Amino acid sequence: MQSVLVKDVQSYNGQEVSLRGWVYNLRSSGKIWFLLLRDGTGLIQGIVSRNDVTEEVFNQKDNLTQESAIRISGLIHEDKRAPGGYEIIIKELHVYQVAKDYPIALKEHGAEFLMDNRHLWLRSRKQWALLRIRHTVYYAITQYLNENNFIRFDSPILTPNACEGTTTLFEVPYFDLGKAYLSQSGQLYLETGIMSLGRVYDFGPVFRAEKSKTRKHLTEFWMMDAEAAFVEHEENMRIQEGLIRFVIRKALTECKAELEILERNVEQLEKADAPFKIMTHREAVEYLRSKGSSMTETEDLGAQDESLLTESSDVPIFIEKWPKEIKAFYMKRDPQNPDIVLGDDLIAPEGYGEIIGGSQREDDYDLLLQRMIGEKMPLAEYQWFLDLRKYGSVPHSGFGVGLERLVTWIAGVPHIRETIPFPRTIYRLRP
Ligand code: 4AD
Ligand code: MG
Repeated sequence: MQSVLVKDVQSYNGQEVSLRGWVYNLRSSGKIWFLLLRDGTGLIQGIVSRNDVTEEVFNQKDNLTQESAIRISGLIHEDKRAPGGYEIIIKELHVYQVAKDYPIALKEHGAEFLMDNRHLWLRSRKQWALLRIRHTVYYAITQYLNENNFIRFDSPILTPNACEGTTTLFEVPYFDLGKAYLSQSGQLYLETGIMSLGRVYDFGPVFRAEKSKTRKHLTEFWMMDAEAAFVEHEENMRIQEGLIRFVIRKALTECKAELEILERNVEQLEKADAPFKIMTHREAVEYLRSKGSSMTETEDLGAQDESLLTESSDVPIFIEKWPKEIKAFYMKRDPQNPDIVLGDDLIAPEGYGEIIGGSQREDDYDLLLQRMIGEKMPLAEYQWFLDLRKYGSVPHSGFGVGLERLVTWIAGVPHIRETIPFPRTIYRLRP
């Protein structure tokens, strides 16, 4: 008999097929019992009735347990009331393995318990939905970039220097060469790539020794860095907006069921697919002060500030033109004001905070060198980066999207840790 996937059963209405997967739930009432089967692509109800099957199959109701692995064969039958709209009238049942005492029951458990059992928790419906949204967001990002002439350019993870400040570097012993660091962002390498390919991106794990225990920080997360030659600050923001709106639309059309499982307010997400707002850092500070904040003009935004800024906005907000003291060495000085750099942070609505950090890059050799000397950076380690400003330097810009931050917002979940299969935080390295 033909093995099919749960997601495809509507094409087999009235036919006999096999399905393979795991028992999600079981209930029985006298001459009939029901199981919910999940196979990775969806959930379907199976019905076993005493009249249709051998006694051996019927008695499996006393043997099977949640998460037992089985193959069932039977007739696909449309039923509007069933989850997914179809059910299977089971005739045969093969047991691969009976699961003993599966620890995660279909009820509420504490977060720590679930995280300790992450290897099993991944099978739960909400986790399933989240991982599928992550998949869709990942491919939407790459599709948008491919359609906009960005070439994939994989940056190294083992690096000799820092991209984003030295306080969050992870060190690794590196043979006779001393120390290596795990990459915080591939950006500096991508800047070399544009001189060959014009527009490039990478997409992979990056690492930050973040000592903060917040619901927005991981120590290992996935970043997509994009970089483009001849793109300046304004256009850089337009590319970011185009990308995020494309991702929203993809998630809304391809992840309807998943968003429903997560009880995401999709109207709110739909509203975010409209022109984004732009505010300078100074305007943001003035606004926050008018709301009672005591922050100064050279301070970074905290999580509360970000929430307050987007409180009455349905769309993400770009915060642009930052004081140079609080931004990275590579950002281009604003030609209109030497104290300001042409950086942008994109803040998601609904309190989800920063999802993108980007900027136009300093392309002038002397200005970049001055800034690096000012920050007491080890120049020898960055000579290759300075070289880019010596041999055909051009205006260029780029940005980095935190995949898990973006998925947290799109899926509307409260904590970043559920958006990656195995989250790493200051307090968690296992499983
Ligand atoms: O703003 P960040 O630090 O920017 C960079 O690393 C640039 N070099 C990127 C570039 O221009 N190519 O990080 C970019 C994004 C943040 O906006 C946030 O979404 C995410 O990465 N991010 C984190 N996500 C999870 N956990 C953390 N600890 C994160 N730190 C940053
Ligand atoms: Mg940032």
